[in-house]
Amino acid sequence: MAGRIPQFFIDDLLNRVDIVEIIDSRVSLKKAGREYTACCPFHNEKTPSFTVSPNKQFFHCFGCGAHGTAVGFLMEYNHMSFPEAIEELARHCGLEIPYEDGKPDFVPQKQNNDLYDMLNKVDQFYQQQLRNHSQASRAVDYLKNRGLDGKTAAEFGVGFAPPGWDTLLPQFGQNNKIEEALIATGMLIKKDNGGCYDRFRDRIMFPIRDRRGRTIAFGGRILPDTQEKGAKAPAKYLNSPETALFHKGQELYGLYEARQALRDIPRLIVVEGYMDVVSLAQAGIQYAVATLGTATTVDHLNRLFRLTQEVVFCFDGDRAGREAAWRALENALPVMGEGRQIRFMFLPDGEDPDTQVKRVGKSEFEASIDAAMPFSEFFFQRLRESTSMQSIDGRAKLVEQARPLLSKMPDGIFKQLMTEQLAQLARMDTTGMNQLVTNPSSMGQSHRPVSHKASQKTPPSPVRFALQRLLHQPQMAQEIGDTSHLQGGDVPGLNLLLEVLEFLKKNPTLKTGTLIEHFRDTEHGKHLQKLAAWEPEFNEPVSLLSELSDTLKKLAETCLRQRYENLLIRSNQGQLTNEEEAEFSALFEQLKQYKQSSTK
Ligand code: UTP
Ligand code: MN
Repeated sequence: MAGRIPQFFIDDLLNRVDIVEIIDSRVSLKKAGREYTACCPFHNEKTPSFTVSPNKQFFHCFGCGAHGTAVGFLMEYNHMSFPEAIEELARHCGLEIPYEDGKPDFVPQKQNNDLYDMLNKVDQFYQQQLRNHSQASRAVDYLKNRGLDGKTAAEFGVGFAPPGWDTLLPQFGQNNKIEEALIATGMLIKKDNGGCYDRFRDRIMFPIRDRRGRTIAFGGRILPDTQEKGAKAPAKYLNSPETALFHKGQELYGLYEARQALRDIPRLIVVEGYMDVVSLAQAGIQYAVATLGTATTVDHLNRLFRLTQEVVFCFDGDRAGREAAWRALENALPVMGEGRQIRFMFLPDGEDPDTQVKRVGKSEFEASIDAAMPFSEFFFQRLRESTSMQSIDGRAKLVEQARPLLSKMPDGIFKQLMTEQLAQLARMDTTGMNQLVTNPSSMGQSHRPVSHKASQKTPPSPVRFALQRLLHQPQMAQEIGDTSHLQGGDVPGLNLLLEVLEFLKKNPTLKTGTLIEHFRDTEHGKHLQKLAAWEPEFNEPVSLLSELSDTLKKLAETCLRQRYENLLIRSNQGQLTNEEEAEFSALFEQLKQYKQSSTK
């Protein structure tokens, strides 16, 4: 693997850019007090709830919850990868990225442009072959037989890859540069002996387009009469491999076409196949997309929910279909809430959306989308299938199965309602259930009962409380003294807090946004982003610094007490070494002082 962008460069870069400038050149911002606002570019709205804070170098939308730094903004808004966003910002500041071993570990935009061009040419070629190639009538007949009309075929750019192992290179010019581009885009496969051959042969081709409509990959369907010499039964569909341009876990077939066809997208339905998307569009249901032979990922869902509030999964009604639906549900748990709706639609046995819409027509198909099963219903129906609600054992099992799943959901109204329903089913009280399903990643709250009505108002754990204040005003770290007595304490999130403190102490001028970017790739990145959205509730002159130092003091006391209690247990068992004995009495004195200072 080649080189990385060094972290110090990213830190430095983010210290130089101004998020207001970066966003304002793309979405026009209005000044409102200390912040800037606009209508959110990530969801549909009429009154602005998108705010940009120059102080924190951070944006946040109160409508859809989108938030992040200048880097995050570019990634979302301009559909860039992380390195691309850094490149863009570096260009903006006139800086060169000092790659750690002189080589970029991503294909820079310039080179990607060549790849997009290459695929565009291949795409045009395949479409033209569907009209012109001597063998194409087989493909055309097949598509006609399936009822595909010319208009829809053209909208989706359906094409034909001619038979034969060596079509593309001669077509586009036999030179190294072309060969490399065709290999890099997955169109050619390299043999051990150095030669190459076409990946797609004698197939109907479906171009996969990115958000901007650029072709980034293909799916190729075999023709029913195909017989390839020497090959064992070839796959019905063949997809491009992962390339610099194509990441299966992020792309959805048909999404670009849906956005082209519809101004507003009230809902999106997720189906399994290329032909399902195309057939539905032809029938006038232009809001279907397909994952590309993979389960639905969180990335997929986030993309869908940026365009609409309602996603309906459409699966076969058979066992495999229900399993796939359950997997989709599990993957969707972390993104549920905030007014988002997911429903599940099951087709009659033996049908897929393509055959079903042909059988029943648009309006009946849409009626069955309307009648699709709500997320919560599918969730509880499935759990109840395997347990009896009549016995205590059964109800306990239900709770045990539901608990880890509900814990994955973000806190909010939807989770609360699901929890209440679970409590009802299990005949438990809601408060008890709340304790069981509290999100373990909402650090520090895991042992704290969340009261039912006031769940939004639960006071944060000391660690969160401290992090919120630090993220709000990172300069305060300079005022914090020695924290060594906090090391090794058994408090959730404490290590992160210490790491953040230490990093801020070393970098006195750091902005919140830079700090967050520094932690982006760690398990804590998302968490810190969320905490950074915190604002002091009133404009009272509360001293954030005194809040912070009080909290650190409280934490220190907790750590000392833990250490003391550990030693106490061992002391009762007569196991203390001399050193520990000394520490033990020193701790006793320290704790006494804490007590005095907190009661005075
Ligand atoms: P299906 O086997 O259900 O095919 O695969 P289909 O969509 O009904 O196709 P038609 O109607 O026979 O043309 C569903 C999806 O799974 C992926 C493809 O994305 C396909 O659209 N798949 C299937 C593959 O990637 N490879 C395969 O060999 C089969
Ligand atoms: Mn099918």
